[in-house]
Amino acid sequence: MNILIMGAPGSGKGTQSVSLIKRLNIPAISTGAMVRDAISKGSPVGKRAEAFANSGALVPDDVMIDVVLERLGMSDCKDGYILDGFPRTLPQAQAMDKAGIRTDIAIFMDVPEEVVIKRLSGRRVCGKCGAIYHISSLPSKKGEICESCDTPLVVRDDDKPLTIKKRLEVYNQQTGPVIQYYRQKGLLLTVDADNDAESISDYIIGAIGHRK
Ligand code: AP5
Ligand code: MG
Repeated sequence: MNILIMGAPGSGKGTQSVSLIKRLNIPAISTGAMVRDAISKGSPVGKRAEAFANSGALVPDDVMIDVVLERLGMSDCKDGYILDGFPRTLPQAQAMDKAGIRTDIAIFMDVPEEVVIKRLSGRRVCGKCGAIYHISSLPSKKGEICESCDTPLVVRDDDKPLTIKKRLEVYNQQTGPVIQYYRQKGLLLTVDADNDAESISDYIIGAIGHRK
């Protein structure tokens, strides 16, 4: 099953992707993680993406579309995937359709803006394995150290207050129409994401089961 997971910064896309990998046994691909990895490696894509990503803007479509289409063509995606963070502009959505990539469901994580600001302000991530924590709703049992790989937790570069504000503006302007695009196609599953992570995951699994 080819699943898109969309929603505002901090709506819980990454958190739900991790839980869905285990429950559906398909890979999760986060375009944000791909961008951060490319920047840390200093690859050509990373060099083009860095200033955009660090300021809270979107990386240009021509860069993202090529990278994602190549990734979805890899063998681990042949039985389906969870795509977190793509498409987030109309040209990206149209490029997927043009390339003949079928989408089965687009999960929209619906959550009020004041909630996402609290979530992003308290997020901590593992600098090595990418595990996602929150200082109050999901703290690491090892304090400021990752539970899985014992690496110090960090604040993401784009989780500064001004960058969060910019990311939310960009989301509303550029990704809002993409949500509408999938709604019109009858593929959108709207999820009340202002809920505990486990209930959200149960709801998604139930809803996917009904659509199979
Ligand atoms: P990306 O990494 O995708 O960032 P984002 O969309 O802003 O989303 P986040 O990762 O910040 O939030 P999330 O929804 O995954 O929430 P999470 O699960 O972590 O993209 C980063 C950048 O890359 C972009 O700004 C852009 O520059 C570039 N980029 C990526 N894709 C692109 C594209 N297609 N085109 C162009 N540029 C692109 O949760 C957040 C916090 O909340 C955590 O602390 C978590 O523990 C907590 N939490 C999660 N769920 C719950 C819950 N149910 N209850 C309580 N707390 C919760
Ligand atoms: Mg994420």
